[in-house]
Amino acid sequence: MDDMIRKAPLFSALDDEAAGALRRSMAEINLGRGQVLFREGDAGDKLYVVADGKVKLGRTSSDGRENLLAILGPGEMFGELSLFDPGPRTATATAVTDTQIFALGHTELTTWVSGRPEVALSLLKQISSRLRRTNEVIGDLVFSDVPGRVAKALLDLSSRFGVQSDDGVHVGHDLTQEELAQLVGASRETVNKALADFAGRGWIRLEARAVVLLDLERLSRRAR
Ligand code: CMP
Repeated sequence: MDDMIRKAPLFSALDDEAAGALRRSMAEINLGRGQVLFREGDAGDKLYVVADGKVKLGRTSSDGRENLLAILGPGEMFGELSLFDPGPRTATATAVTDTQIFALGHTELTTWVSGRPEVALSLLKQISSRLRRTNEVIGDLVFSDVPGRVAKALLDLSSRFGVQSDDGVHVGHDLTQEELAQLVGASRETVNKALADFAGRGWIRLEARAVVLLDLERLSRRAR
């Protein structure tokens, strides 16, 4: 089984045999960039785990503006809210790159959760860490300026997608400037200005759909 999937919260608590059985009960879905898996407001009956690629979770305001809640990568799950708190999907899930996803029906998941308390605990752990992160994001929206939020978003993306290279941490986020702005919750112009400022100071280098973090220390200080 793929290493990333093995480490996913749904699987990490299981022994190899049980993890294999769980994996076999999941359906594989392949999406291309921009393809929508489900939309906010849809009825949902599945939980998903990203195997490869990236998924963005977004919400649209009544006047049509988009906000991104999160970018998820390999090993991360989503779609559990409509199961544990029955109701429509709270966000739209769209592939950011070519993406492979595994899907588990709510009925099968319920069987696993009832039979294996360790699966339930792992799920609670991931939901708790998501709440922790969401509280941070809310705090930053209130207390931090846009450059501070941009610095934080870059560090967050790097912790998930960063690869150490010779001159810094290469973060292939695959996001457009518009998507980056939606993730930070600010206008494209303000976010671009912050990025250009960081680049001018030598903290980052901008590349197409990627950024290289050159000075983690200064970026972290700016994110505080
Ligand atoms: P569900 O509401 O079924 O569909 C959308 C999914 O997005 C939701 O389940 C969660 O899995 C995920 N999601 C919602 N809010 C957040 C958030 N703040 N951070 C990360 N993921 C989220």
